[in-house]
Amino acid sequence: MIELKNVKNYLAPLPVILVTTRLQENNIKKDNIIAISWAGICDHAPHLININIAKGRYSGKIIKLTREFGICIPSSKYLKEIDLCGTTHGNKVNKFELTKFTPFEAKSINVPLIKECPINMECTLEDVISFESHDMLIGKIVKTYVDENYIDEKGNPDFAKLEILAYLNDEYWTLGKKIEDLFFTKKK
Ligand SMILES: Cc1cc2nc3c(=O)[nH]c(=O)nc-3n(C[C@H](O)[C@H](O)[C@H](O)COP(=O)(O)O)c2cc1C
Repeated sequence: MIELKNVKNYLAPLPVILVTTRLQENNIKKDNIIAISWAGICDHAPHLININIAKGRYSGKIIKLTREFGICIPSSKYLKEIDLCGTTHGNKVNKFELTKFTPFEAKSINVPLIKECPINMECTLEDVISFESHDMLIGKIVKTYVDENYIDEKGNPDFAKLEILAYLNDEYWTLGKKIEDLFFTKKK
């Protein structure tokens, strides 16, 4: 083993997700999408999820203001659109127009979700933990949608079909193949 001169964070893989927001003033809706990889699961009763956004980012400001956001899990088919959402800023461009993603209305929050994403979740902001460069925004998942074309016979998302992306050390990767079920060592 070689000890690196500087500490590095090589935690991998991380998900690649799209987080949607809406700022509504009078009847004018300003919708936005940010690409996020620093994200994880905090709890399951209720389902809590964390997304970490650099301080000062437009999306973080809107989520703290409106206290709601969408989590949309894209497939690798939309790599260019995903990257665009992570390189442009919602205060300057309309990323729905830029990517041509199709918005659809969430049911319990005033935020658009993305039709092209096989999984969409509605979240309400539960908590914010402020770190030096990033804010950890903790959201409660209040609704989950899966595209009917990506559901397996047990009613779960068919991840073999979804072609989700992973983020590894500033690179996009696709997943390999399934090798086992969780807790397979406990099975007889
Ligand atoms: C794949 C990918 C993952 C990213 N992950 C994060 C992240 O976890 N946190 C973050 O603050 N920015 C992340 N970014 C950068 C933001 O998406 C980028 O700064 C974006 O332009 C901010 O959008 P906004 O200005 O509309 O809020 C990521 C970008 C890409 C392409």
